[in-house]
Amino acid sequence: MTKSPCDLLVHGASAVFSGEEVLEGDGLVIGRGKVLETGEASSLRECWNARSELDAACGVVAPGFVDAHVHPAFAEGRAGEFNLRSQGADYQEIAAAGGGILSSVRAVRGLSEEELSRKVADHFRRMRCHGTTACEAKSGYGLTVEEELKSLRAIAFAAEATGMEVFPTFLGAHAVPEEHRENPDDWIDELCDKGLPAVAESGLARAADVFIEGIAFNLDRSRRYLEKAKEVGLALRVHADQFEALGGVELAVELGAESVDHLEVLEDRGLEALALGTTFAGLLPAVPHFLGQESDAPARRLLAAGVRCFVATDFNPGSCPCPSLPEAAHFARRRLALTAEEALTAITSTAADSLGAGDRKGRLIPGHDADLVVLDLPDIDHFGYFLGENPVRTVVMGGVVQE
Ligand code: NIG
Ligand code: FE
Repeated sequence: MTKSPCDLLVHGASAVFSGEEVLEGDGLVIGRGKVLETGEASSLRECWNARSELDAACGVVAPGFVDAHVHPAFAEGRAGEFNLRSQGADYQEIAAAGGGILSSVRAVRGLSEEELSRKVADHFRRMRCHGTTACEAKSGYGLTVEEELKSLRAIAFAAEATGMEVFPTFLGAHAVPEEHRENPDDWIDELCDKGLPAVAESGLARAADVFIEGIAFNLDRSRRYLEKAKEVGLALRVHADQFEALGGVELAVELGAESVDHLEVLEDRGLEALALGTTFAGLLPAVPHFLGQESDAPARRLLAAGVRCFVATDFNPGSCPCPSLPEAAHFARRRLALTAEEALTAITSTAADSLGAGDRKGRLIPGHDADLVVLDLPDIDHFGYFLGENPVRTVVMGGVVQE
């Protein structure tokens, strides 16, 4: 039988996870950046002539991780605040005193576009070391129209420089900027009149996001911003119910948002809205860990109600300086009671589906992009079991083994 040529044969895995289930066999075949076939390597070898091989012995093969909630456009960390918090200050107090997000805004405004681009690329490289091959990426630390566009251009540059596949989101409504403190409506006006149309026109973002919270935007302002975002053709992603349930979840579902994330204080009415709608729930379990918050998103209840849930890092300098999805998955297992397979599904296929990219990302099935990780784990059940150790042995992006 003549064999067909292909680029890469992966073999010897102790398990291959498709993004939804454990597959039969220990290998797969890749050509032109796509998955061609999965199965037993010995049978695959009879049909395919591979230019090179990747030995995944004693490792778990899974789709490249998809981080669907990331704030990478920041300049520096906020370790000083971490010290204050260990002395008893809380995240909301620090924000109300002009620190928090606004201190990251001052840092971003102080950088040139080139400097910021290098920072974002550095953040993407750190994420990739932990297995992330595609991510959502929010602006939100510029908070003037120009500085936000600068941040989105920096994200685009960093995507190109690192090969990370990025789904960019405009987070112009992340916090009320210092200069609009007395009248937050002016900032919403500017976002609706100039910011959102400029972002849509530029093509630099596919979605818009808002932080609906007492320390950020109330429901009326958020509605105005989200309705305008929808009108200019942007998808919607929402931060809500992190500290206070203000009705942001119901608003997100009503407007057909792709996702509503955090949900640590989700109430029954929010859960009922999610159960009836199509909006994904974004679970960010490393955040309450880092903030010392006791409540968690009710993941088991959400799943039981049929709500599709992804797990993400929320990588950012204030509430979660964690670029690692395996670490977030550990917290998903420990705090949210997800099984290893549920956690893996939540950072691969479901995360990709939430970004409208499930037809090519987050699954190891024929025709999908050949993004995968080899994890140094004896079996799937060990995923999220170890902490403080990176399980990622090898990363493959678009069929290319990353050095
Ligand atoms: O998702 N909640 C709003 N935004 C981020 C925190 C940003 C920051 O503190 O810098 C979050 O937790
Ligand atoms: Fe966030």
